[in-house]
Amino acid sequence: MKIKLPQPKVAPFKVTRDKVLILNQLLLPHEIKWAECQNHNEVYDAIKKMYVRGAPAIAIAAAYGFYLATWNRINQEKSINLKFLESIKKKLDSARPTAINPARATEKMLGVASALIANKTPKEIKADSVSLLLNLFNKAVDIHQDDALRCYNIGKNTMNHVKKLISKKSYQILTHCNTGSLATGGIGTALGAIRLLNDENRVSQVYVDETRPYLQGSRLTAFELIKEKIPSTLIVDSQAGFLMQKQMIDFVIVGADRITKRGDVANKIGTYMLSVLAKEHKVPFYVVAPKSTFDLTLNKGIEIPIEERDSKEITHVKGIAIAPKIKTLNYSFDITPRENITAIIHEDGIY
Ligand code: MRU
Repeated sequence: MKIKLPQPKVAPFKVTRDKVLILNQLLLPHEIKWAECQNHNEVYDAIKKMYVRGAPAIAIAAAYGFYLATWNRINQEKSINLKFLESIKKKLDSARPTAINPARATEKMLGVASALIANKTPKEIKADSVSLLLNLFNKAVDIHQDDALRCYNIGKNTMNHVKKLISKKSYQILTHCNTGSLATGGIGTALGAIRLLNDENRVSQVYVDETRPYLQGSRLTAFELIKEKIPSTLIVDSQAGFLMQKQMIDFVIVGADRITKRGDVANKIGTYMLSVLAKEHKVPFYVVAPKSTFDLTLNKGIEIPIEERDSKEITHVKGIAIAPKIKTLNYSFDITPRENITAIIHEDGIY
């Protein structure tokens, strides 16, 4: 039986066969502007500049980027071979190094392409290029749609778990960064679970960390929560501890960019700090993410590459220098050790 999935009010992509439109999230919530990407370099830039962000969404973008690279190569009548396809994967995977999800998506795309070109001469590959393109387009769409179903199942599992563990009629929830429909192909991960709880009237308040420096909380999560009519309050990141001290938080819920075998989690900078506070105040701390976020080749969180971003993200606000002369350090993610996490919930259960 096909499940009728809840539809998000905003989505990060519009797709046709010759281009992908990516919603420029840097301009939200004031402006809805779509960046037109006709080749993988433009997709790479959109990921790197964070027009699109959130681990599942950048994986979907990378899948479409891989397709567009092949489309252009064939249109330019240049040969398709494994070396070319691998170089595209490498480039797209490198745009945001902490999230593992893009590499998972491009691995699938590469798998489809290499199976179709294996043991063929360049002439045969050329003759079959329409079929190659069709298969790659369908695979990218499949990765996109599949994420929507995974989000829904993550949300359901999380909701059931929370309802079992925290015996309250409705919850006061704290979340960090943006894990909603702007960050995924569906209703979101942590924010998707919040949405499903709200559909059952079980959310009394969502406290949204503004999430310096990119402000995913105040610009994106707030935007989504208002659109979905979910009761929500914006706070500066440093208020979280005080709210826990005042017993205003029933649980914390966040997403993830990479999860190691032992259960350490890389997520938006500030997540670790929240987890320490939650542990101190005995507040349950949930991480929710699709299985594509797991990297079982790594054991400890310290092994995860952590992206460092441009100093301007800290020193400038909307192009205006607020701290022009000082040196900066701008780690975009941090590591939360498994000891601080109550449960890691994915689409098939609990890790
Ligand atoms: O830098 P961003 O905005 O890409 O960081 C996003 C996060 O840290 C999210 O929590 C994570 O990718 C999960 S999104 C469902």
